[in-house]
Amino acid sequence: MKLFDVYPVNDITIVKARGSYVWDDLGQQYLDMYGGHAVISIGHTHPHYVERINKQLGLIGFYSNSIRIPLQEELADKLGKLSGYPDYQLFLCNSGAEANENALKLASFHNGRKKLVAFRGSFHGRTSLAVAATDNPKIVAPVNETDNVIFLPFNDEEALLEYFRKNGSEISSVIIEGIQGVGGIHAASDGFLKTIRKCCDEHGSVFIADSIQCGYGRSGRFFSHDHSGVKADIYTMAKGMGNGFPVAGIIISPSIKATHSMLGTTFGGNHLACAAALAVLEVIEKEELIANAQVVGEYLMTELKKIPQLLNLRGRGLMIGFDVPDSLKDLRKNLLFNQHIFTGEAKPNVIRLLPSLALRKKDADQFLEAMFEEIQQCMEQKDPVTV
Ligand SMILES: Cc1ncc(COP(=O)(O)O)c(C=O)c1O
Repeated sequence: MKLFDVYPVNDITIVKARGSYVWDDLGQQYLDMYGGHAVISIGHTHPHYVERINKQLGLIGFYSNSIRIPLQEELADKLGKLSGYPDYQLFLCNSGAEANENALKLASFHNGRKKLVAFRGSFHGRTSLAVAATDNPKIVAPVNETDNVIFLPFNDEEALLEYFRKNGSEISSVIIEGIQGVGGIHAASDGFLKTIRKCCDEHGSVFIADSIQCGYGRSGRFFSHDHSGVKADIYTMAKGMGNGFPVAGIIISPSIKATHSMLGTTFGGNHLACAAALAVLEVIEKEELIANAQVVGEYLMTELKKIPQLLNLRGRGLMIGFDVPDSLKDLRKNLLFNQHIFTGEAKPNVIRLLPSLALRKKDADQFLEAMFEEIQQCMEQKDPVTV
């Protein structure tokens, strides 16, 4: 049987990983400034993470949600404390798209409405309602098309207020990434998030903060939406939550009540997933990784600003993006194959940095030196010195 060929892959086989580094099958070491798409939060194969998962696997890996799983309560307690939302309620599932599906569905159960507002440039996943709320027609199949999703311009307070003035009573929820990731690292402004809060409060709509890429400490706060000082009703999370183990969840404001069977999952919240998620939070707390993301992120940002060829430098903490001019369109490829550094891309000519929250200053320096070298070489090829 062949694999269903949906991914354009780099011809590299990674066989080993540690901290912010990975190694291929030929022994070549790479610096990972991409974190496998923002997934690696505490660093690859962290010893505490490996030990906790191994230990749990020797006890019990899985049983369904038909029995008590105290590890879920332990996880809810720890997550509540570390995120600063101890009074919220936790529902566990398996992936980012599933977290958003559950959040959107729960909002609709809560207020009995059908319509939701999403924003231009958004990415919320590839399953039915999550993909319908994603601003990319190429990945929306005919069966996913719906009139229930309204796209409004990102960061346009007036357009949002106007839409709510006319249609507020129909809107079940508003979903927004605190920092758009796939869309190219664009932060929602504080004023915009405050306006969403105001509209939702005035019209009985649910504010959903998609924190799947920008959450879990990446921005230097637990949720990137926290920078604005407003609270959402539901936060969705995945990626960094399991440091590579597939675990996701939503945390839900106390004002939204649960009834039996309104949500459910076979695998979500299994013993092994909880052990992985707990290990991640324990390391984030012990090693103060959210503060590290802020400090190393600021350092990277300051140093990157000194490179005049990089355009529109943006982001927060260890979620950084910049545009490169056409003359540097191969920069990402050259970083990978000449300098052995993984970075991410958004659309052509946007580079995204999404490293582990445990990235050290010396790792950042290695990246910066490689950037200088690659840019220098590109410039020399463009303007060869004539002798
Ligand atoms: C903001 C955001 N939401 C949702 C998702 C979907 O997550 P998953 O791929 O785990 O379904 C992603 C994935 O990149 C994302 O970046």
